[in-house]
Amino acid sequence: MKLVVAEGAVLEEIIDATFPIWNEGLTRENYARWNAAQLKTGWGQNHLRRFALFDDRGHWVASAKRYLWPIRLDGRDGVMCGLGAVFTRPDARGQGYAGEIINRLVEASHEQGAIAAGLFSEIGEQLYRRLGFVTVPMDEVDVEVERKHGAPAMLVRAGEERDLRALAALHATRSEGVPFSLRRDSSLIEYALSKKRLLAGLGVAPGPRGARQTEFFVAEEGASAVAYVILTVNAGGWTVEEAGDRDPAGARLGAILQVLLAREPSRPVPLIRAWWPPAMAVPPQVRLTNRVPARDIFMMRPIEKVGIPARAEDVFYWRSDYF
Ligand SMILES: CC(C)(COP(=O)(O)OP(=O)(O)OC[C@H]1O[C@@H](n2cnc3c(N)ncnc32)[C@H](O)[C@@H]1OP(=O)(O)O)[C@@H](O)C(=O)NCCC(=O)NCCS
Repeated sequence: MKLVVAEGAVLEEIIDATFPIWNEGLTRENYARWNAAQLKTGWGQNHLRRFALFDDRGHWVASAKRYLWPIRLDGRDGVMCGLGAVFTRPDARGQGYAGEIINRLVEASHEQGAIAAGLFSEIGEQLYRRLGFVTVPMDEVDVEVERKHGAPAMLVRAGEERDLRALAALHATRSEGVPFSLRRDSSLIEYALSKKRLLAGLGVAPGPRGARQTEFFVAEEGASAVAYVILTVNAGGWTVEEAGDRDPAGARLGAILQVLLAREPSRPVPLIRAWWPPAMAVPPQVRLTNRVPARDIFMMRPIEKVGIPARAEDVFYWRSDYF
């Protein structure tokens, strides 16, 4: 068996085969574009690749995306081998190929600094448990924002590329001391933002998943962003993809959310969902309710001797970095 980077005709076949599962409401053509564009971003070029596993007859039988996420885990800076879009072609299932491609990718990533592997499972835990992964708890919450009459007096403007470094610094401060977090620099934040914007831009088709928007706002003091939020907005409501605040109490972030709600005072408050990292203070204007385990099951497997987080409190992870 051989593991190679998926390109050319094989990549086209993989795109065809995976389109029915992971199309996100896009057309076949835009699904291919969305995938290609992610690989071409600055961060994607260096951290994301799609691989194919070939059998001894020279046919591809399985494929997966492999990310090299910079992480801090159990006091160590390293890399997480992130696995996504694990797929075995239907006529080759049940012969261990998914396990094979996962094990090979995990082993190969060790040489590139991976101290652990991670994935989001859409098919429950069983297959991945057998492969040595354990579930890492993450919670999803409703974000209830106290609505004010009129917007708070604070300057909120659209976020820009020049803000990304400040955002990375906010992330580093807020996630400090939490056993597991991504090390998010400006290129990773830009990748996360472009991925969502591309999806929104390409997904102009009619239907419930067609109308999607990404919004990025900052509050600034002096010349730099001191708080921010990135939201996706669709018919179902808002998702706080990520957020930050230099103020440890989060009051500016709360005020940004109030300003955004005050844009449309006559409309009912949308349902706002988030994976709110427990180490991130809840702003005084906000209440988190309906805490449930996140729908997407996150699982990790140690590669080196590192502790895998066992409590949601030990994890600092935004929905923005879902893969
Ligand atoms: C999931 C998938 C990758 C497994 O590929 P595979 O090469 O057949 O996997 P393996 O032979 O290594 O392991 C088979 C095991 O996968 C698990 N499995 C397969 N499909 C599953 C599903 N839909 N739900 C839960 N578990 C599943 C079962 O535990 C199965 O074991 P069993 O045969 O004893 O029941 C393949 O079914 C697939 O491509 N599915 C569509 C894409 C997908 O859902 N990918 C997973 C995203 S997280």
